[in-house]
Amino acid sequence: MRIDENLIWLESVDSTNRYALENFNELPDAALVAASEQTAGRGRHGRCWVSPPNTNLYASFVMKRPGSNPAMSSMAASLGALDTFRKFAPEIGFWLKWPNDIFVGECKIAGILCEARTGQSGIVAGIGANINMPSALLQKIDQPATSLLQETGVKLNVKKFANQLALKLIEYYITYSISPEQLFEHWRNENMLLGQTVEVFTGSDTVKGTVCDIGRNGELILSDGVNKKTLYSGDIKINKNSIDFDLIKRKLNS
Ligand code: BTN
Repeated sequence: MRIDENLIWLESVDSTNRYALENFNELPDAALVAASEQTAGRGRHGRCWVSPPNTNLYASFVMKRPGSNPAMSSMAASLGALDTFRKFAPEIGFWLKWPNDIFVGECKIAGILCEARTGQSGIVAGIGANINMPSALLQKIDQPATSLLQETGVKLNVKKFANQLALKLIEYYITYSISPEQLFEHWRNENMLLGQTVEVFTGSDTVKGTVCDIGRNGELILSDGVNKKTLYSGDIKINKNSIDFDLIKRKLNS
């Protein structure tokens, strides 16, 4: 194990989230625990996160003072990851897809999984970012996925990405603690689904509607034209006919 200030690098671990939760009390606040590989990476909704060795970034950010709104910890983590991608590839149109995925076009490039332990005040925000994953491996993922290598054609040093991510996460952690409203507005403005027609799979149900707002607790407010429905989690299906990628490009360029 190597410690560079707040970045802790493990060679191999089952899950950096599991490690950070189990060692929560010993880890410093705002530590970023990263690993070269995960043998049992966890995704949202009980899925697994494909984590081959020396390819991508698998990291968990320790937030010991997550404030009163846990949803904002995920917002801070996704904004930190979004800025980091943009820093390394400013020409690529990265966008934030509710709740906290990072996409390029219709393909996912990063995901966030926030977890906490009962009786433990604090949150661990896990970030999985596809950096050098080649297309043969991307195709094995159960949903359209991309990587920085796939988008730019250039390999990036994963540790360089991790260092920049650690800085950005601390920046947003501070914004969150001193001005949660500013953090929320920033996250809301990044959310490109506002005004789009979507289908959300909640696990038990599929809800269709137009995204009319996103609230402070991270909730998605959908309207079917008559009624409004509030959803706290789920997977939004990107419907090629409903998502306006031109609008996204215009927003990114403005
Ligand atoms: C998602 O399903 O979109 C969330 C994926 C989160 C994956 C990351 S990789 C680092 C951290 N450790 C885990 O086991 N999962 C998260």
